[in-house]
Amino acid sequence: MILHLNMLYVGKHLISYFLSTFLFISGFNFSELSSLKKVFDSKFKVGVAINKNQIKQKKSKEVDLIKNQFSSLTAENVMKWEEIHPKKNKYNFKISDLIVSMAQENDQDLIGHTLVWHNQIPEWVTRNPDGSLVEKNKLFDNITQHISTVAGRYSGKIKGWDVVNEAILDDGSFRKNDFYNIAGEDYIFKSFEIAQKVDPSAELYYNDFSMYKPEKCEAAIVVANKIKDKGIRIDGIGLQAHWGLDYPTIDEIEQSIIKIYEAGYKVHFTELDIDVLPNLWEIEGADLSDNFKSNDELNPYRKHLPDSISNLLANRYSEIFDLFVKHSNKIERVTFWGLSDGHSWKNDWPAKGRTNYPLLFDKENEPKEAYHDILRRFGKK
Ligand code: GLA
Repeated sequence: MILHLNMLYVGKHLISYFLSTFLFISGFNFSELSSLKKVFDSKFKVGVAINKNQIKQKKSKEVDLIKNQFSSLTAENVMKWEEIHPKKNKYNFKISDLIVSMAQENDQDLIGHTLVWHNQIPEWVTRNPDGSLVEKNKLFDNITQHISTVAGRYSGKIKGWDVVNEAILDDGSFRKNDFYNIAGEDYIFKSFEIAQKVDPSAELYYNDFSMYKPEKCEAAIVVANKIKDKGIRIDGIGLQAHWGLDYPTIDEIEQSIIKIYEAGYKVHFTELDIDVLPNLWEIEGADLSDNFKSNDELNPYRKHLPDSISNLLANRYSEIFDLFVKHSNKIERVTFWGLSDGHSWKNDWPAKGRTNYPLLFDKENEPKEAYHDILRRFGKK
């Protein structure tokens, strides 16, 4: 009997050895069997923000990943105001048209990012030629023209718009940007009102970072409720999710998911990446200047990601996705802010010229340990 069992055991392992050797020799790749979008198919969309070259489909390896791994696309930059509408009567639709058709061809959702944001926006929107702030009417004309033309062009083709980005500070007060200084919170209501009119089929979101901070999350809900009270639609709240290996805590993230969901809004994680480098804010008196470029302490993994940190990153992604799966009835989408490490904005912020490893694919567009772990952990059993 023992002999039989042993033979069975050896036989099973021999078969699996020959099978994997055959698959290896024939160039078969296990990860093709599954993908992020398949693994989370019944739970939430998995998205990726892509840059200009990726939209132009320059590298086939990137195109394959974008197409096979993700069910939702966001333009990293090309739909921002300064790119798509740099002058009062000048629009650049060439690349944004491309991402719209790319999403359609691949049967992916497209998220419009972003209509009204104080960054990456030309000065004429909020300032007169002499530098003074424009009148409220003028601002509203500019916002109306912008949203009508941009969201109007893609009406019916966009899953959802980040209508207003980053209007609230971490303490829950309004960010005193030009929009606010001209129009108070009315600029937020105006933006949602126009977006709803122009593309009635698109979902409309408010989007911000550090939403795990309770004051900020609660303030975003208050704003969303005010939008609704005015009879204007808002469907979801976007939590950007630019996080680190040790912040925020899983509990902080969980509380924000629950609060937003219980307030009646869909939860979107819109810009997920995990910074693995030393946190500059913990360095007292740090001046975020170029001096940090050559500082080994702040840029410790120039050549490669050490196994110990790769493990930490994989564990961090696993605990985050455990939480997302636990609350998948509340979460519509999880979008990564970038496809692979080489092009991530985290290589240049908060200090320029560092080598960071925040995503699931490395700079050669190869899957990292964190990716394999996620597929193993959440793949069909
Ligand atoms: C914010 C914006 C994004 C992007 C990131 C950094 O989160 O919403 O569009 O600019 O900063 O790249």
